[in-house]
Amino acid sequence: MSVKSGFSKFNRKQRIEYLVNHSELSESDALGLNDFDAPNSDQQHVISEMIENHIGNFPLPMGVVSNMLINGHSFSVPFVTEESSVIAAASKASKFWAERGGFKAKIEGLTKKGQVHFTWNGNPSSIGSYFKELKSKINDATSDLASKMEQRGGGIKEIKLLDKTAELPNYYQLDVSFETANAMGANFINSCLEKMAEVLLADKELNNEKYQVEIIMSILSNYTPDCKVICWVECPIEKLQGWNNELTANEFALKFKQAVDIANLDISRAVTHNKGIFNGIDAVLMATGNDTRATAASGHAFASRSGQYRGLTAISLSDGLFKYQLELPIAIGTVGGITKIHPVVKTVMSVLNNPDAPRLMSIAAAAGLANNFAAVSSLITTGIQKGHMKMHLSNMLHEFKVTEAEKHQVIAHFANETISFKAVEEYIQLIRNSKS
Ligand code: MEV
Repeated sequence: MSVKSGFSKFNRKQRIEYLVNHSELSESDALGLNDFDAPNSDQQHVISEMIENHIGNFPLPMGVVSNMLINGHSFSVPFVTEESSVIAAASKASKFWAERGGFKAKIEGLTKKGQVHFTWNGNPSSIGSYFKELKSKINDATSDLASKMEQRGGGIKEIKLLDKTAELPNYYQLDVSFETANAMGANFINSCLEKMAEVLLADKELNNEKYQVEIIMSILSNYTPDCKVICWVECPIEKLQGWNNELTANEFALKFKQAVDIANLDISRAVTHNKGIFNGIDAVLMATGNDTRATAASGHAFASRSGQYRGLTAISLSDGLFKYQLELPIAIGTVGGITKIHPVVKTVMSVLNNPDAPRLMSIAAAAGLANNFAAVSSLITTGIQKGHMKMHLSNMLHEFKVTEAEKHQVIAHFANETISFKAVEEYIQLIRNSKS
Protein backbone atom coordinates (compact mmCIF):
# COMPACT_ATOMS: atom_id res chain seq x y z
CA MET A 1 0.00 0.00 0.00
CA SER A 2 1.37 3.40 -0.91
CA VAL A 3 1.71 5.81 1.97
CA LYS A 4 0.91 9.40 1.14
CA SER A 5 3.47 11.80 2.51
CA GLY A 6 2.97 15.55 2.66
CA PHE A 7 -0.75 15.22 3.41
CA SER A 8 -0.39 17.70 6.23
CA LYS A 9 0.79 20.34 3.73
CA PHE A 10 -2.42 20.02 1.72
CA ASN A 11 -5.08 22.62 2.16
CA ARG A 12 -8.57 21.54 3.10
CA LYS A 13 -9.78 21.29 -0.51
CA GLN A 14 -6.80 19.14 -1.46
CA ARG A 15 -7.36 16.83 1.51
CA ILE A 16 -10.97 16.29 0.52
CA GLU A 17 -9.98 15.69 -3.11
CA TYR A 18 -7.48 13.14 -1.88
CA LEU A 19 -10.21 11.33 0.06
CA VAL A 20 -12.51 11.31 -2.98
CA ASN A 21 -9.70 9.75 -5.03
CA HIS A 22 -8.57 7.26 -2.39
CA SER A 23 -11.73 6.16 -0.57
CA GLU A 24 -15.38 5.42 -1.24
CA LEU A 25 -16.28 9.06 -0.47
CA SER A 26 -18.37 10.36 -3.37
CA GLU A 27 -18.00 13.90 -4.72
CA SER A 28 -21.50 14.80 -3.57
CA ASP A 29 -20.93 13.50 -0.02
CA ALA A 30 -17.61 15.34 -0.01
CA LEU A 31 -19.48 18.59 -0.65
CA GLY A 32 -21.46 17.87 2.53
CA LEU A 33 -18.26 18.22 4.54
CA ASN A 34 -18.69 21.99 4.21
CA ASP A 35 -22.27 21.94 5.44
CA PHE A 36 -21.41 22.37 9.09
CA ASP A 37 -18.94 25.23 8.80
CA ALA A 38 -19.50 28.12 11.17
CA PRO A 39 -21.20 31.00 9.32
CA ASN A 40 -18.65 33.40 10.78
CA SER A 41 -15.31 32.89 9.02
CA ASP A 42 -13.25 33.97 12.07
CA GLN A 43 -14.96 31.34 14.17
CA GLN A 44 -14.45 28.73 11.46
CA HIS A 45 -10.79 29.66 11.31
CA VAL A 46 -10.43 29.01 15.07
CA ILE A 47 -12.14 25.62 14.72
CA SER A 48 -10.06 24.60 11.69
CA GLU A 49 -6.83 25.52 13.49
CA MET A 50 -7.69 23.55 16.63
CA ILE A 51 -6.49 20.30 15.06
CA GLU A 52 -4.41 19.09 12.13
CA ASN A 53 -5.59 17.95 8.69
CA HIS A 54 -8.99 19.58 9.16
CA ILE A 55 -11.61 18.54 6.60
CA GLY A 56 -14.88 19.65 8.20
CA ASN A 57 -16.81 20.21 11.40
CA PHE A 58 -18.59 17.35 13.11
CA PRO A 59 -21.83 18.50 14.68
CA LEU A 60 -23.06 17.09 17.96
CA PRO A 61 -26.17 18.30 19.71
CA MET A 62 -25.98 20.41 22.82
CA GLY A 63 -28.89 20.41 25.26
CA VAL A 64 -29.38 21.77 28.71
CA VAL A 65 -30.21 20.24 32.06
CA SER A 66 -32.02 22.91 34.02
CA ASN A 67 -32.71 22.87 37.75
CA MET A 68 -29.34 21.49 38.80
CA LEU A 69 -29.15 22.66 42.39
CA ILE A 70 -25.53 22.36 43.54
CA ASN A 71 -24.44 23.65 46.94
CA GLY A 72 -27.53 25.86 47.00
CA HIS A 73 -26.93 27.45 43.58
CA SER A 74 -29.20 26.63 40.67
CA PHE A 75 -27.46 25.92 37.36
CA SER A 76 -28.56 25.35 33.80
CA VAL A 77 -25.95 22.89 32.62
CA PRO A 78 -25.15 22.46 28.92
CA PHE A 79 -24.55 18.84 27.91
CA VAL A 80 -22.97 17.80 24.59
CA THR A 81 -23.72 14.16 23.87
CA GLU A 82 -24.60 11.89 20.99
CA GLU A 83 -26.71 9.63 23.22
CA SER A 84 -30.44 10.19 23.43
CA SER A 85 -31.91 9.96 26.94
CA VAL A 86 -28.77 11.20 28.74
CA ILE A 87 -30.21 14.71 29.11
CA ALA A 88 -33.69 13.44 29.92
CA ALA A 89 -32.25 11.17 32.63
CA ALA A 90 -30.09 13.88 34.18
CA SER A 91 -32.99 16.35 34.06
CA LYS A 92 -35.32 13.93 35.84
CA ALA A 93 -32.74 13.22 38.58
CA SER A 94 -31.88 16.90 38.95
CA LYS A 95 -35.52 17.89 39.38
CA PHE A 96 -36.04 15.03 41.85
CA TRP A 97 -33.06 16.12 43.96
CA ALA A 98 -33.75 19.86 43.65
CA GLU A 99 -36.94 19.11 45.58
CA ARG A 100 -34.88 17.28 48.23
CA GLY A 101 -32.02 19.70 48.91
CA GLY A 102 -30.05 19.31 45.70
CA PHE A 103 -26.52 18.06 45.11
CA LYS A 104 -23.77 18.85 47.57
CA ALA A 105 -20.17 18.90 46.43
CA LYS A 106 -16.80 19.47 48.00
CA ILE A 107 -13.35 19.60 46.50
CA GLU A 108 -10.71 17.47 48.13
CA GLY A 109 -7.43 18.79 46.77
CA LEU A 110 -6.37 20.32 43.47
CA THR A 111 -2.93 18.76 43.26
CA LYS A 112 -1.73 17.18 40.02
CA LYS A 113 1.38 15.20 39.41
CA GLY A 114 4.07 14.81 36.77
CA GLN A 115 7.11 12.61 36.47
CA VAL A 116 10.56 12.68 34.93
CA HIS A 117 11.44 9.05 34.33
CA PHE A 118 15.20 8.59 34.10
CA THR A 119 18.01 6.16 34.62
CA TRP A 120 21.30 6.81 36.39
CA ASN A 121 24.00 4.19 36.70
CA GLY A 122 25.63 5.43 39.93
CA ASN A 123 25.12 4.38 43.51
CA PRO A 124 21.50 4.98 44.68
CA SER A 125 22.61 6.29 48.06
CA SER A 126 24.81 8.98 46.51
CA ILE A 127 22.03 10.43 44.34
CA GLY A 128 19.83 10.31 47.46
CA SER A 129 22.25 12.35 49.51
CA TYR A 130 22.88 14.75 46.63
CA PHE A 131 19.18 15.36 46.00
CA LYS A 132 18.80 18.38 48.31
CA GLU A 133 21.36 20.31 46.25
CA LEU A 134 19.91 19.01 43.00
CA LYS A 135 16.44 20.13 44.04
CA SER A 136 17.59 23.68 44.60
CA LYS A 137 19.13 23.72 41.08
CA ILE A 138 15.81 22.40 39.72
CA ASN A 139 13.89 25.10 41.60
CA ASP A 140 16.18 27.79 40.17
CA ALA A 141 15.77 26.49 36.65
CA THR A 142 11.98 26.40 36.85
CA SER A 143 11.50 29.62 38.82
CA ASP A 144 10.44 31.67 35.79
CA LEU A 145 7.80 29.18 34.76
CA ALA A 146 6.66 28.64 38.35
CA SER A 147 6.43 32.31 39.27
CA LYS A 148 3.91 32.98 36.46
CA MET A 149 1.76 30.14 37.79
CA GLU A 150 2.25 31.36 41.38
CA GLN A 151 0.76 34.72 40.38
CA ARG A 152 -2.36 32.81 39.36
CA GLY A 153 -2.50 30.87 42.64
CA GLY A 154 -0.70 27.66 41.61
CA GLY A 155 2.88 26.51 41.32
CA ILE A 156 5.24 23.62 41.98
CA LYS A 157 4.33 22.14 45.35
CA GLU A 158 6.78 19.32 45.93
CA ILE A 159 9.65 17.57 44.16
CA LYS A 160 10.59 14.07 45.29
CA LEU A 161 13.21 11.66 44.07
CA LEU A 162 11.89 8.10 43.95
CA ASP A 163 14.37 5.25 43.82
CA LYS A 164 12.84 2.57 41.61
CA THR A 165 16.05 0.61 41.04
CA ALA A 166 14.61 -2.46 42.77
CA GLU A 167 11.85 -2.58 40.13
CA LEU A 168 13.89 -1.68 37.03
CA PRO A 169 17.70 -1.40 36.86
CA ASN A 170 18.96 2.18 37.40
CA TYR A 171 15.45 3.59 37.22
CA TYR A 172 14.46 6.75 39.15
CA GLN A 173 11.62 9.21 39.04
CA LEU A 174 11.37 12.85 39.82
CA ASP A 175 7.87 12.84 41.23
CA VAL A 176 6.54 16.38 41.13
CA SER A 177 3.32 17.83 42.55
CA PHE A 178 1.72 20.88 40.97
CA GLU A 179 -1.23 23.18 41.44
CA THR A 180 -2.47 24.85 38.31
CA ALA A 181 -5.20 27.24 39.51
CA ASN A 182 -8.02 27.40 36.96
CA ALA A 183 -6.04 25.74 34.17
CA MET A 184 -5.95 22.03 33.50
CA GLY A 185 -2.25 22.79 33.44
CA ALA A 186 -0.89 20.14 31.08
CA ASN A 187 1.37 22.60 29.24
CA PHE A 188 2.68 24.18 32.45
CA ILE A 189 3.39 20.78 34.01
CA ASN A 190 5.06 19.34 30.93
CA SER A 191 7.18 22.48 30.39
CA CYS A 192 8.37 22.34 34.03
CA LEU A 193 9.17 18.64 33.74
CA GLU A 194 11.17 19.08 30.55
CA LYS A 195 13.11 21.90 32.19
CA MET A 196 13.83 19.62 35.18
CA ALA A 197 15.03 16.91 32.80
CA GLU A 198 17.46 19.41 31.27
CA VAL A 199 18.86 20.09 34.75
CA LEU A 200 19.39 16.37 35.35
CA LEU A 201 21.17 15.97 32.01
CA ALA A 202 23.40 19.00 32.48
CA ASP A 203 24.38 18.32 36.08
CA LYS A 204 28.12 17.71 36.44
CA GLU A 205 27.77 15.59 39.61
CA LEU A 206 25.44 13.17 37.86
CA ASN A 207 27.16 13.10 34.49
CA ASN A 208 30.88 12.34 34.24
CA GLU A 209 33.13 9.67 32.78
CA LYS A 210 31.65 7.04 35.11
CA TYR A 211 27.98 7.92 35.50
CA GLN A 212 25.31 9.33 33.24
CA VAL A 213 21.68 10.29 33.38
CA GLU A 214 19.45 9.11 30.59
CA ILE A 215 16.04 10.73 30.35
CA ILE A 216 13.39 8.19 29.39
CA MET A 217 10.46 10.62 29.36
CA SER A 218 9.01 13.67 31.08
CA ILE A 219 5.24 13.84 31.26
CA LEU A 220 2.33 14.74 33.50
CA SER A 221 0.32 11.91 35.01
CA ASN A 222 -3.36 11.83 34.15
CA TYR A 223 -3.94 9.88 37.34
CA THR A 224 -5.01 12.69 39.68
CA PRO A 225 -6.31 11.15 42.93
CA ASP A 226 -5.31 14.34 44.77
CA CYS A 227 -7.43 16.51 42.51
CA LYS A 228 -10.73 15.09 43.59
CA VAL A 229 -14.39 15.97 44.02
CA ILE A 230 -16.97 14.38 46.27
CA CYS A 231 -20.58 14.92 45.31
CA TRP A 232 -23.59 13.55 47.14
CA VAL A 233 -27.34 13.67 47.62
CA GLU A 234 -29.19 12.84 50.80
CA CYS A 235 -32.69 12.83 52.20
CA PRO A 236 -34.78 10.95 54.73
CA ILE A 237 -35.66 7.56 53.24
CA GLU A 238 -39.40 8.26 53.31
CA LYS A 239 -38.82 11.31 51.05
CA LEU A 240 -37.60 9.01 48.26
CA GLN A 241 -41.22 8.39 47.35
CA GLY A 242 -41.91 9.87 43.97
CA TRP A 243 -39.31 8.57 41.54
CA ASN A 244 -42.01 6.22 40.40
CA ASN A 245 -44.77 4.51 42.28
CA GLU A 246 -43.78 0.90 41.66
CA LEU A 247 -41.92 0.64 44.96
CA THR A 248 -42.45 2.17 48.37
CA ALA A 249 -39.71 4.59 49.48
CA ASN A 250 -38.21 1.94 51.74
CA GLU A 251 -38.27 -0.76 49.06
CA PHE A 252 -36.71 1.69 46.62
CA ALA A 253 -33.87 2.54 49.05
CA LEU A 254 -33.13 -1.14 49.79
CA LYS A 255 -33.18 -2.19 46.14
CA PHE A 256 -31.09 0.82 45.17
CA LYS A 257 -28.51 -0.21 47.77
CA GLN A 258 -28.44 -3.74 46.38
CA ALA A 259 -27.75 -2.35 42.90
CA VAL A 260 -24.90 -0.19 44.23
CA ASP A 261 -23.48 -3.13 46.23
CA ILE A 262 -23.49 -5.21 43.04
CA ALA A 263 -21.54 -2.47 41.21
CA ASN A 264 -19.05 -2.63 44.05
CA LEU A 265 -18.43 -6.34 43.85
CA ASP A 266 -18.91 -7.28 40.20
CA ILE A 267 -16.60 -5.88 37.53
CA SER A 268 -18.99 -6.40 34.63
CA ARG A 269 -21.66 -4.37 36.37
CA ALA A 270 -19.17 -1.83 37.77
CA VAL A 271 -18.00 -0.82 34.29
CA THR A 272 -21.57 -0.17 33.11
CA HIS A 273 -22.44 1.63 36.35
CA ASN A 274 -19.41 3.90 35.88
CA LYS A 275 -20.14 4.35 32.17
CA GLY A 276 -23.48 5.84 33.22
CA ILE A 277 -21.61 8.28 35.49
CA PHE A 278 -19.39 9.33 32.59
CA ASN A 279 -22.47 9.89 30.42
CA GLY A 280 -23.01 13.05 32.47
CA ILE A 281 -19.40 13.98 33.17
CA ASP A 282 -18.27 13.65 29.54
CA ALA A 283 -21.25 15.66 28.31
CA VAL A 284 -20.26 18.58 30.57
CA LEU A 285 -16.56 18.24 29.73
CA MET A 286 -17.34 18.22 26.01
CA ALA A 287 -19.52 21.31 26.34
CA THR A 288 -16.82 23.15 28.29
CA GLY A 289 -13.96 22.16 25.95
CA ASN A 290 -12.24 19.90 28.46
CA ASP A 291 -10.34 16.67 27.93
CA THR A 292 -12.78 13.80 28.40
CA ARG A 293 -10.13 11.09 27.96
CA ALA A 294 -7.92 12.34 30.78
CA THR A 295 -10.83 12.40 33.22
CA ALA A 296 -12.12 9.00 32.12
CA ALA A 297 -8.66 7.39 32.37
CA SER A 298 -8.15 8.82 35.84
CA GLY A 299 -11.66 7.92 36.98
CA HIS A 300 -11.37 4.30 35.87
CA ALA A 301 -7.94 3.94 37.51
CA PHE A 302 -9.42 5.45 40.69
CA ALA A 303 -12.21 2.89 40.49
CA SER A 304 -9.49 0.22 40.75
CA ARG A 305 -7.63 1.74 43.70
CA SER A 306 -8.57 -1.11 46.04
CA GLY A 307 -7.01 -3.64 43.63
CA GLN A 308 -10.38 -4.47 42.06
CA TYR A 309 -12.36 -2.32 39.64
CA ARG A 310 -15.49 -1.12 41.48
CA GLY A 311 -18.38 1.30 41.11
CA LEU A 312 -17.40 4.91 41.83
CA THR A 313 -20.38 5.53 44.11
CA ALA A 314 -21.06 4.65 47.72
CA ILE A 315 -24.36 4.43 49.56
CA SER A 316 -25.42 4.47 53.16
CA LEU A 317 -28.86 3.94 54.68
CA SER A 318 -28.40 4.67 58.34
CA ASP A 319 -30.62 6.48 60.86
CA GLY A 320 -33.38 6.63 58.27
CA LEU A 321 -31.20 8.70 55.92
CA PHE A 322 -30.47 7.84 52.28
CA LYS A 323 -27.03 9.18 51.36
CA TYR A 324 -25.58 8.51 47.93
CA GLN A 325 -22.13 9.72 47.01
CA LEU A 326 -19.81 9.90 44.02
CA GLU A 327 -16.10 10.38 44.61
CA LEU A 328 -13.63 10.71 41.76
CA PRO A 329 -10.69 12.69 40.42
CA ILE A 330 -11.57 15.34 37.83
CA ALA A 331 -8.69 17.48 36.55
CA ILE A 332 -10.16 20.17 34.32
CA GLY A 333 -9.76 23.84 33.53
CA THR A 334 -11.79 26.95 32.88
CA VAL A 335 -8.88 28.83 31.32
CA GLY A 336 -6.30 27.67 28.81
CA GLY A 337 -6.75 24.99 26.18
CA ILE A 338 -9.68 25.82 23.93
CA THR A 339 -11.83 27.21 26.75
CA LYS A 340 -11.36 30.84 25.79
CA ILE A 341 -11.15 30.46 22.03
CA HIS A 342 -13.82 27.96 21.05
CA PRO A 343 -16.85 29.99 19.99
CA VAL A 344 -19.38 27.71 21.68
CA VAL A 345 -17.37 26.98 24.83
CA LYS A 346 -17.41 30.71 25.59
CA THR A 347 -21.20 30.65 25.43
CA VAL A 348 -21.39 27.53 27.58
CA MET A 349 -19.22 29.15 30.24
CA SER A 350 -21.58 32.14 30.33
CA VAL A 351 -24.58 29.83 30.76
CA LEU A 352 -22.70 28.28 33.69
CA ASN A 353 -22.03 31.78 35.12
CA ASN A 354 -18.30 31.50 34.32
CA PRO A 355 -17.28 28.97 36.96
CA ASP A 356 -13.75 28.56 38.27
CA ALA A 357 -12.17 25.10 37.98
CA PRO A 358 -13.34 23.80 41.40
CA ARG A 359 -16.90 24.86 40.67
CA LEU A 360 -16.81 23.22 37.24
CA MET A 361 -15.49 20.04 38.89
CA SER A 362 -18.55 20.12 41.16
CA ILE A 363 -20.92 20.67 38.25
CA ALA A 364 -19.38 17.81 36.25
CA ALA A 365 -19.56 15.48 39.26
CA ALA A 366 -23.19 16.43 39.90
CA ALA A 367 -23.96 15.69 36.25
CA GLY A 368 -22.32 12.27 36.65
CA LEU A 369 -24.23 11.52 39.83
CA ALA A 370 -27.50 12.71 38.26
CA ASN A 371 -27.11 10.38 35.30
CA ASN A 372 -26.10 7.46 37.47
CA PHE A 373 -28.94 8.02 39.95
CA ALA A 374 -31.45 8.14 37.11
CA ALA A 375 -30.02 5.02 35.45
CA VAL A 376 -29.97 2.92 38.62
CA SER A 377 -33.44 4.14 39.64
CA SER A 378 -34.86 3.15 36.27
CA LEU A 379 -33.03 -0.16 36.25
CA ILE A 380 -34.48 -1.23 39.59
CA THR A 381 -38.03 -0.16 38.66
CA THR A 382 -39.32 0.14 35.09
CA GLY A 383 -36.10 -1.02 33.39
CA ILE A 384 -34.04 1.17 31.12
CA GLN A 385 -35.55 0.41 27.75
CA LYS A 386 -38.92 2.08 28.24
CA GLY A 387 -37.45 5.56 28.64
CA HIS A 388 -34.49 4.90 26.42
CA MET A 389 -36.50 3.69 23.45
CA LYS A 390 -38.92 6.59 23.84
CA MET A 391 -36.01 8.99 23.43
CA HIS A 392 -34.51 6.84 20.70
CA LEU A 393 -37.75 6.92 18.71
CA SER A 394 -36.89 10.24 17.11
CA ASN A 395 -33.58 8.81 15.80
CA MET A 396 -35.52 5.92 14.27
CA LEU A 397 -38.00 8.30 12.67
CA HIS A 398 -35.11 10.11 11.00
CA GLU A 399 -33.72 6.81 9.81
CA PHE A 400 -37.07 5.89 8.21
CA LYS A 401 -37.33 9.40 6.72
CA VAL A 402 -40.91 9.84 7.92
CA THR A 403 -43.08 12.75 6.88
CA GLU A 404 -44.40 15.16 9.51
CA ALA A 405 -47.84 13.47 9.36
CA GLU A 406 -46.32 9.99 9.73
CA LYS A 407 -44.22 11.21 12.66
CA HIS A 408 -47.30 12.36 14.61
CA GLN A 409 -49.07 9.10 13.88
CA VAL A 410 -46.10 6.99 15.02
CA ILE A 411 -45.57 8.99 18.22
CA ALA A 412 -49.27 8.75 19.10
CA HIS A 413 -49.29 5.01 18.42
CA PHE A 414 -46.21 4.28 20.53
CA ALA A 415 -47.29 6.39 23.50
CA ASN A 416 -48.67 3.21 25.04
CA GLU A 417 -46.88 0.51 23.02
CA THR A 418 -43.51 -1.12 23.51
CA ILE A 419 -41.01 0.52 21.18
CA SER A 420 -38.56 -1.57 19.22
CA PHE A 421 -36.88 -0.99 15.88
CA LYS A 422 -38.90 -3.81 14.32
CA ALA A 423 -42.21 -2.61 15.78
CA VAL A 424 -41.61 0.94 14.51
CA GLU A 425 -40.56 -0.30 11.08
CA GLU A 426 -43.66 -2.49 10.82
CA TYR A 427 -45.97 0.28 11.95
CA ILE A 428 -44.53 2.76 9.43
CA GLN A 429 -44.95 0.13 6.72
CA LEU A 430 -48.56 -0.34 7.80
CA ILE A 431 -49.26 3.40 7.54
CA ARG A 432 -47.60 3.59 4.14
CA ASN A 433 -49.41 0.49 2.83
CA SER A 434 -52.76 1.80 4.02
CA LYS A 435 -52.19 4.97 1.99
CA SER A 436 -51.12 3.28 -1.22
C1 MEV B 1 -26.43 3.80 29.22
O1 MEV B 1 -25.74 4.78 28.46
C2 MEV B 1 -25.96 3.86 30.66
C3 MEV B 1 -26.52 2.77 31.59
O2 MEV B 1 -26.24 1.48 31.05
C4 MEV B 1 -25.87 2.98 32.92
C5 MEV B 1 -26.19 1.89 33.93
O3 MEV B 1 -26.49 0.74 33.54
O4 MEV B 1 -26.09 2.20 35.13
C6 MEV B 1 -28.02 2.87 31.67
